[in-house]
Amino acid sequence: MPINNRDFNYIRRLLLDRTSVVLEEDKIYLVESRLAPLAKDAGVNSVEQLIFKLRNQSFGTLHQQVIEEMMTTETFFFRDIRPFEALEKFVFPDLIEKRNRDRTLNIWCAACSSGQEPYSIAMLIREEFPYLTRWKVSLIASDISSKMLDIARMGCYSQHQISRGLPAKLREKYFARQGTKWQIDNNILQMVEFLQLNIAETLPYLPSMDIIFLRNVLIYFDVDTKKKILTKVQQLLRPDGYLFLGAGETTINLNNYFEPLKFNKAVAYRLRKI
Ligand SMILES: C[S@@+](CC[C@H](N)C(=O)[O-])C[C@H]1O[C@@H](n2cnc3c(N)ncnc32)[C@H](O)[C@@H]1O
Repeated sequence: MPINNRDFNYIRRLLLDRTSVVLEEDKIYLVESRLAPLAKDAGVNSVEQLIFKLRNQSFGTLHQQVIEEMMTTETFFFRDIRPFEALEKFVFPDLIEKRNRDRTLNIWCAACSSGQEPYSIAMLIREEFPYLTRWKVSLIASDISSKMLDIARMGCYSQHQISRGLPAKLREKYFARQGTKWQIDNNILQMVEFLQLNIAETLPYLPSMDIIFLRNVLIYFDVDTKKKILTKVQQLLRPDGYLFLGAGETTINLNNYFEPLKFNKAVAYRLRKI
């Protein structure tokens, strides 16, 4: 049975308050389809009853589960390939030259979902810049979703996940079959440190970053939240660092301190020299 507007707005408000994610007005079907399995698990007969249950108890595990189900966590290995090509051809060579003295690189994937994005960067480092394993490379990956972070930390992927974006050569080299799943190599797993962070809230201490991946997440926020997040990113990025956004995202009209820089067909953002 379809839910009414009052229930839909309850879910929209819950999501907005806890994650800053804006659920558009035409997304009622998404609430119904994503919460139906959870309603079943929670022992109620409909999404309407699930929301009734949520309303009548203080914030807890069930609310958290609803938020997790409502998040769009779509991701895959080497998504949109161009930023990874830019990393290989321009960004790492440039930073390796500049940081050769202290041999330190800090990389942050700010909304990493189930981990394919940071692991793609880790595999790229291993393949193309193996000597960086002798540097101090910090690869921090964060997300708000504990469900996604559990998968990311395990580094264990289904056949479907492994078949999306990952070249066969890298699958053979860095993954081992475990029943129906694929387990990532321990050396790659250990290159990434996962943290639970809400990027719309005050961040804990993070080191200044050479590379920030903030891809396919700004689209879910309103303009003020996008601005707030980009200000934090601006403060965290080193003056000669690189920011990558999703293909449909931009800093334009949101933060004037960034300027886009084209590498073939990829765009990275750098801080303007003032
Ligand atoms: C569509 S996925 C993008 C994953 C990856 N960056 C990529 O491009 O493939 C968006 C991710 O943003 C996360 N997210 C949404 N709101 C967030 C917030 N306020 N703080 C941190 N992560 C958030 C979601 O949990 C989800 O995993």
